[in-house]
Amino acid sequence: MSFDHFYYKGAQFAHTVHSESSLNYAENEFEVLDDDVFNVTYPKSGTNWMIEILNLIKHDGDPTTCQSILNFERSPWFEIEAFKEQEKQLSQPRIISSHLPHQLFAKSFFKSKAKIIYTMRNPKDVIVSFFYFTKIHYLFKEIENFQELIDNFVNGNGLYGSWFDHVKGWMQMKDDSRFFYITYEELLKDPRGGVVRLCKFLGKQLDDAQIDSVVKHSAFSTMKENKMSNWTQVPAEVLDQTKGSFLRKGISGDWKNHFTVAQSEYFDKIYQEKMKDLNMSFYWEQL
Ligand code: A3P
Repeated sequence: MSFDHFYYKGAQFAHTVHSESSLNYAENEFEVLDDDVFNVTYPKSGTNWMIEILNLIKHDGDPTTCQSILNFERSPWFEIEAFKEQEKQLSQPRIISSHLPHQLFAKSFFKSKAKIIYTMRNPKDVIVSFFYFTKIHYLFKEIENFQELIDNFVNGNGLYGSWFDHVKGWMQMKDDSRFFYITYEELLKDPRGGVVRLCKFLGKQLDDAQIDSVVKHSAFSTMKENKMSNWTQVPAEVLDQTKGSFLRKGISGDWKNHFTVAQSEYFDKIYQEKMKDLNMSFYWEQL
């Protein structure tokens, strides 16, 4: 894909954000604590939304932390170069983000009692969200040709490797008691229900008002107004916000405005082929 990339154990990563050393640290050296909570996604699947939800749950619905600490510092990605510095600021239980595929995840996690929340999104909407992200983020050369983006996506030619491998890799943990998965579309349809399920998984007992507060302060409209969550504090040389917002639309099904019928059929065929061995259905397939 059109960024300055390198391969680490078969997946693509970006120079300046990642390095062999940061990936090796994440995989082999990082010490997972038993109360760590990992927010894992393939990029553009709702990572920042889940950062907000998890931080609000951690603070019993109180938005003060979300309004005073930048989201990518509250819940940094542990595979990136900057993490070793950010790590020192984290309070327990740490909420740590990651886009790593399952096979490159921290080895110490698998011996711990830590928990993973894995959020997935309709891959067609992931493609659309990514299309607009390439227009504003310095890492990417703007992609004009939407078909080229679809082809790159289905061929696994992008940051963090193939979406299909990512989902299939993580779904190996679907019956593990330390693993919780949810889709972006379920969260959109019933955010409160999602928060209640997350609280149960995390062993957090929030009352109704606290749950309402989590939902309210993690809503797209609230996050868009919160400068600690909307990425407006990212320097202009990293994110050119004259060309678009990080919090763009926050809806499901925007792919219908971007895929032609032929592109949608082409994608669906590949999707069915690649996903058939998983024997699972996902909420976005019903929409
Ligand atoms: P769109 O570009 O489709 O609007 P990530 O955080 O993994 O990079 O994902 C970014 C996508 O999640 C963007 O999608 C963004 O708008 C959406 N998003 C972020 N916060 C959201 C929220 N509170 N509700 C719904 N969507 C949200």
